[in-house]
Amino acid sequence: QNADTIGSVRQQLANLMRESLRATVPELDGEEPIVSACNNPKHGDYQCNNAMGIFSKIKGKSTSFKNPNAIGQAIARNLPESTMVEKTSIAGPGFVNIVLKTDWIEEKIYRMLVDGVRTWAPVLPVKKAVVDFSSPNIAKEMHVGHLRSTIIGDCLAKMLEFCHVEVLRRNHVGDWGTQFGMLIEYLFDQIPNWEDIGDQAIGDLQAFYKAAKVKFDADADFRTRGQQAVVLLQGGDERYRAAWKKICDISRREFDQVYKRLQVTLEEKGESFYNPFIPDVVEQLRGKNLIVESEGAQVIQVDGYEIPLIVIKRDGAFNYATTDLTAFWYRVNVEKAELIVYVTDVGQAQHFDMVFKALKLAGWLPSEDQIPKSKHVGFGLVLGADGKRFRTRSSEVVRLVDLLDEAKTRSKDELISRGKDKEWSEEEVEAAAEALGYGAVKYADLKNNRLTNYTFDFDQMLDIRGNTAVYLLYAHARICSILRNSKKDIEELKKVNSIQLAHPSERVLGLHLVRFAEVVEESVTNLLPNTLCEYLYSLAGLFTDFYTNCKVIDSDEETSRLLLCEATAVVMRECFKLLGITPLYRL
Ligand code: ARG
Repeated sequence: QNADTIGSVRQQLANLMRESLRATVPELDGEEPIVSACNNPKHGDYQCNNAMGIFSKIKGKSTSFKNPNAIGQAIARNLPESTMVEKTSIAGPGFVNIVLKTDWIEEKIYRMLVDGVRTWAPVLPVKKAVVDFSSPNIAKEMHVGHLRSTIIGDCLAKMLEFCHVEVLRRNHVGDWGTQFGMLIEYLFDQIPNWEDIGDQAIGDLQAFYKAAKVKFDADADFRTRGQQAVVLLQGGDERYRAAWKKICDISRREFDQVYKRLQVTLEEKGESFYNPFIPDVVEQLRGKNLIVESEGAQVIQVDGYEIPLIVIKRDGAFNYATTDLTAFWYRVNVEKAELIVYVTDVGQAQHFDMVFKALKLAGWLPSEDQIPKSKHVGFGLVLGADGKRFRTRSSEVVRLVDLLDEAKTRSKDELISRGKDKEWSEEEVEAAAEALGYGAVKYADLKNNRLTNYTFDFDQMLDIRGNTAVYLLYAHARICSILRNSKKDIEELKKVNSIQLAHPSERVLGLHLVRFAEVVEESVTNLLPNTLCEYLYSLAGLFTDFYTNCKVIDSDEETSRLLLCEATAVVMRECFKLLGITPLYRL
């Protein structure tokens, strides 16, 4: 493969630019090209912004360039001959504006239709990644925060997978810790025959947890037993182990219901999994003289914090941070991950910052541009209509299953009010209601910059005229109906290489289509799914412009335009797939 056929369009251009930079300023060995889409389409399709930086680097050392503009001129001149670049122009302090050849874009779209959109995948600097997401806590409620983690984490995992990265989807469930002593003792007290009865024995696990906690706080005797139970459990006592497993199993079944609905797959490696590796990791850290004693605890001092990172608590127990240090060690050394991302609310930013700093002190986490990379993907709160943390009317934590139910019910009612129940089978109505409802919940979450808080609002997320999954699913279904109405066999049309982007709105749409890969590249590099949402929303808009301005069926350009419709539908579906939304072909 040639340098100008690998990766996203941006990467292909960057590869050409790299050659030009080498020729322009050989003394700056390996200057990385800075290539991006033009903000203003009047200037061109892409631009290269290296000239100013290069000028400041060589100023005084080389006499050949008077100013950045001269460097820009040279960069443009030294650009190797290629099939993709139509022309370049230099603006101001050496910005190189690039216009792509329209027939190159046409060919690129055509090849995608034939070879599949996955051939467009960008190249990422990592081959294997761990995405640590969802990660609820056993016996506690899985709240909207976990919903966000599940939706964002799944999307990041999917984008990485699109880029041919092997992804380990890790559910780091909180299945270890002192609360289990209390839970187990309470189980023994309340349900003496717990072993003989089914998994539903505990009924509502959250209520059970709360009751256990009440007793734990009020009853000193029970508290002592709970603390001893932790020791027995961690020591491997069989009866305590079995009780622990039972409690975990019940929780797991509840979590799985949510994952099934959201169609998210995860592999559980909970906190307990890393337990056997902790002593060795702690020993390694001790060997590096990182662990010191502080107020009876064993801690690591990290820069920028008054409090240290506690590794062994005063009572000798390991904690959340110890597990994360160990999980990192395991993921890098045993699983060979090159990138690890942790998807949790921003409230845990400090925890991860401290853990990463400790890992740097240990020499296990190198500097930013090296491998392995470790990133905390934080997100904001989900707010209710009152602008406060999202709660039910009785100020309970909102149950995820209820939210998904309501989104589906509302979508179903809407479909029925449009008479779809008369047109479609029962199953089709159900499937569409789920795609719309669950898709709406996911998209409403993903379309915001994850760091901001967002308001959970059914009316807004289900609005067919807004920036919603519902609008986008309708837009896609409309393209499908154009294709159906043409009565043409698309597979047959694909045999003719005939895409022409003659009309300005065809070219704009075509250019947007071929940018798909670099949007995924950007979205996944910055770990910001909203970038992909913005792309998809613009795509729907550009398609509408095209369809308004260009007659498709029965026009002279029918074949080309139907293929452009098909290409748009294919790219939209790939976006849906990456966002975890199920596409609908008719609505
Ligand atoms: N169980 C934690 C919580 O619910 C999230 C775990 C995130 N992952 C990690 N490796 N610490 O807050």
